[in-house]
Amino acid sequence: MDRQQASQANKPFARTIIIIGAGVFGLSTALAIADRHPSIVVKVIDRLKPPVLDGTSVDTTRCIRADYKDPVYAKLAKAAQTKIREDPELNQYMYQQGMTFACDGEPDRFTELWKAQKKLAESLHAEKDLVNMPDRESVFQRLHGKDTKPPSAGELPGGMSRWNMAYCNLEDAFIDAEKCIEVYYNRCLTKPNISFRCGSPVDHIRIEDGVAQGVVLESGTSIEGDLVLVAAGAWSGRLVNLEQRIYPIGHEVAWIKLTTDEQKRWKNNSITTNLSTGLNMFPPYRGEIKILRRSPGYKNTIVVPDPEDQSKTMKISYPRTIVDNPGDAIPLDAEKAMRENLKEIMPSLADRPFDRTKICWICTTPTADFLVAPHPRIAGIHLATGGSAHAWKFLPVIGDLVVDSMEGVLSAELEEKWRYVRGSTGRDENAPRMDGEPEELRDVVRNKSSVL
Ligand SMILES: Cc1cc2nc3c(=O)[nH]c(=O)nc-3n(C[C@H](O)[C@H](O)[C@H](O)COP(=O)(O)OP(=O)(O)OC[C@H]3O[C@@H](n4cnc5c(N)ncnc54)[C@H](O)[C@@H]3O)c2cc1C
Ligand SMILES: *[C@@H]1O[C@H](CO)[C@@H](O)[C@H](O)[C@H]1NC(C)=O
Ligand SMILES: *[C@@H]1O[C@H](CO)[C@@H](O)[C@H](O)[C@H]1NC(C)=O
Ligand SMILES: *[C@@H]1O[C@H](CO)[C@@H](O)[C@H](O)[C@H]1NC(C)=O
Ligand SMILES: *[C@@H]1O[C@H](CO)[C@@H](O)[C@H](O)[C@H]1NC(C)=O
Repeated sequence: MDRQQASQANKPFARTIIIIGAGVFGLSTALAIADRHPSIVVKVIDRLKPPVLDGTSVDTTRCIRADYKDPVYAKLAKAAQTKIREDPELNQYMYQQGMTFACDGEPDRFTELWKAQKKLAESLHAEKDLVNMPDRESVFQRLHGKDTKPPSAGELPGGMSRWNMAYCNLEDAFIDAEKCIEVYYNRCLTKPNISFRCGSPVDHIRIEDGVAQGVVLESGTSIEGDLVLVAAGAWSGRLVNLEQRIYPIGHEVAWIKLTTDEQKRWKNNSITTNLSTGLNMFPPYRGEIKILRRSPGYKNTIVVPDPEDQSKTMKISYPRTIVDNPGDAIPLDAEKAMRENLKEIMPSLADRPFDRTKICWICTTPTADFLVAPHPRIAGIHLATGGSAHAWKFLPVIGDLVVDSMEGVLSAELEEKWRYVRGSTGRDENAPRMDGEPEELRDVVRNKSSVL
């Protein structure tokens, strides 16, 4: 009997499960519970109705890739992509145009990572699915055509080229993240025992004698449940004291409107990403190009009561988004760094005004491993978060694994990877971002009216 059969043979492991958060983790888990144990009553609570405008899972585009240095994620990502491809509702929003991974070739950790990732890609994919770009001419020509030439290094900021070598994995795709979250939300609504409660955030998890009893909303309403799943992404650290195991960081995102001619010209481009600069540029979609940067990022430090001891406080980083602060525009440094990259790979867009920008919050863990585990101290709370910058692509598979974890049958390998570790350090190799400390956002954020 395999594990899944074993758990199916078991009685439902709870009567009522409250899921806080309707993103990738929350929605995928709600569906997995309904499929495995339809008699469990699932109540999903979110600040807003899905697709949640400032939720990390909601955006114009996300990458679907299996390029990982770590074989565990590489395998899981491949399985997830196959499921997306076979899902008639999701696959209409997936565009398999490949993803190009570039680096500068300087002897540092990004180049090492690039080499390891390329090697693994070569072992997992057919030769025809990988395009090698050994020099900066071929990197540029893949974007602009055979008869083009990259700007000379002398014309570039710092007089130095950075997009120097690359490979493209043609199996990789981008997906309309917002539409797919809507698909999953609607799918949940067809399940008789899943219900949603959106509009009032969870204020706190109600705990009695060290056991969770349910949640209390900011509106004052109390909701009972015998298991509470914290899937609140970058917001999770306010609901449970995670002792720095997760650290929310904001990354800058910007959109540039294209002319019809530009849309046609670049239509078939791959997603292009520089592992070293952290810049990630998507092909034209709905008339615009999206760029983001895996920068050291921004933090938003606030002091809140410790949920485990109201007499104490804790200092956490907590999302500051376009929903709470609609006037915000990305910091000047972020804009400058994006434009420097564009000068090299998209010279004609380098000075074009951004249509809009946002800070997208990720729930990082030191190793970029997810956090899927029971709460270390409070019975009746389970955690499903720590998506870091790479959990979206696991939408069709993550929920089942979270249910495995709740049932105590997660594979030893994943249990070890996703367990609760206090604080801790490590390398974020599965979703690398630039070295450096995140800046305090409130010190550098700009006001839209003074920028755009
Ligand atoms: C710029 C950027 C690029 C990325 N690119 C990729 C990519 O290309 N590929 C990829 O696979 N991954 C990518 N990711 C990562 C991926 O998007 C995330 O790992 C994933 O979406 C996290 O999902 P989640 O369910 O944890 O969080 P969320 O989607 O944020 O869900 C959490 C939900 O909890 C709700 N919530 C919070 N607090 C409360 C409360 N108190 N009460 C009720 N509800 C609450 C929020 O409203 C939110 O809807 C990227 C992330 C960013 C920021
Ligand atoms: C929903 O849950 C209730 C209570 O556990 C159960 O009696 C009912 O059969 C469930 N509905 C479905 C469609 O499974
Ligand atoms: C990517 O960006 C980093 C940081 O600026 C740079 O050092 C590196 O050379 C770049 N790599 C490529 C391939 O562009
Ligand atoms: C894009 O790809 C399609 C299908 O392969 C092809 O017909 C079209 O000419 C391509 N367009 C450009 C601008 O390369
Ligand atoms: C942005 O600037 C405008 C105009 O100066 C002002 O009215 C608004 O309150 C500011 N918004 C924020 C969020 O600071």
